[in-house]
Amino acid sequence: MQLTLTLPRSGMCMLLLVSTLLLWEHVASKPSGLMSIEALYNRVVEYSHITYVLAADIYREFDLNFFKRSWFTDRTLSLCHTASIYTPETRQEVHDTKTEDLLKAIVNITHSWEEPLKHLLSAVPTLQGASDNMLKSANAVKERNHILLEGIEAILNRTQVEIEDDAYPDWSGLSDLQSSDEETRLFEFFNLCRCLRRDTHKVDTFLKVLRCRFVYNNECMYYQ
Ligand SMILES: *[C@@H]1O[C@H](CO)[C@@H](O)[C@H](O)[C@H]1NC(C)=O
Ligand SMILES: *[C@@H]1O[C@H](CO)[C@@H](O)[C@H](O)[C@H]1NC(C)=O
Repeated sequence: MQLTLTLPRSGMCMLLLVSTLLLWEHVASKPSGLMSIEALYNRVVEYSHITYVLAADIYREFDLNFFKRSWFTDRTLSLCHTASIYTPETRQEVHDTKTEDLLKAIVNITHSWEEPLKHLLSAVPTLQGASDNMLKSANAVKERNHILLEGIEAILNRTQVEIEDDAYPDWSGLSDLQSSDEETRLFEFFNLCRCLRRDTHKVDTFLKVLRCRFVYNNECMYYQ
């Protein structure tokens, strides 16, 4: 910790690293040093909620300034790259899904966004007239997604849920996102931020259901 504070240039990055470890593993005020599962859930939900809000902001700005109606007739919307990950749809289905399966789906989704989020961030400056705010949000979502993944891993560590395979769905939109054809590029950006909003919402919802199970004994509204 001391060390990182004296490193000026890489300071931000190191600080982030250190703070995430502290974030998920230790509580200074507790003698055991280990964060309770309730505290972990509260914290991941804080993260997932804001991640979703930021993803929705990116989508909203894109929709306002770059979306074209003609896409609906000229182009086919592709499935999100995470579409193959099984997730419950209705409230009742979510409620009926085992903790282990929800956690696995959350890890899978969050993991499979690591790579595309880097490219989404690089693509924002290619949008003519995108705001600084959009760039900031894209950066924040990328970092939060990573921190969230660590938080969920910390929860998995406690719950003895084993993730045996390390296969995550790949995103195949990179060449479109970097295309020299503006329409192709914009359309891929649209797909990406549409899917991002959808998936961050899912993850947030599932984590809130799990928090409800572990922190409030299921006695809360599922989506709060
Ligand atoms: C993620 O989902 C895909 C598609 O269903 C599956 O093939 C893969 O095994 C899953 N990975 C993990 C770690 O659960
Ligand atoms: C999970 O547990 C392992 C071994 O106990 C530990 O090394 C690792 O840092 C833990 N990861 C998280 C994110 O808590």
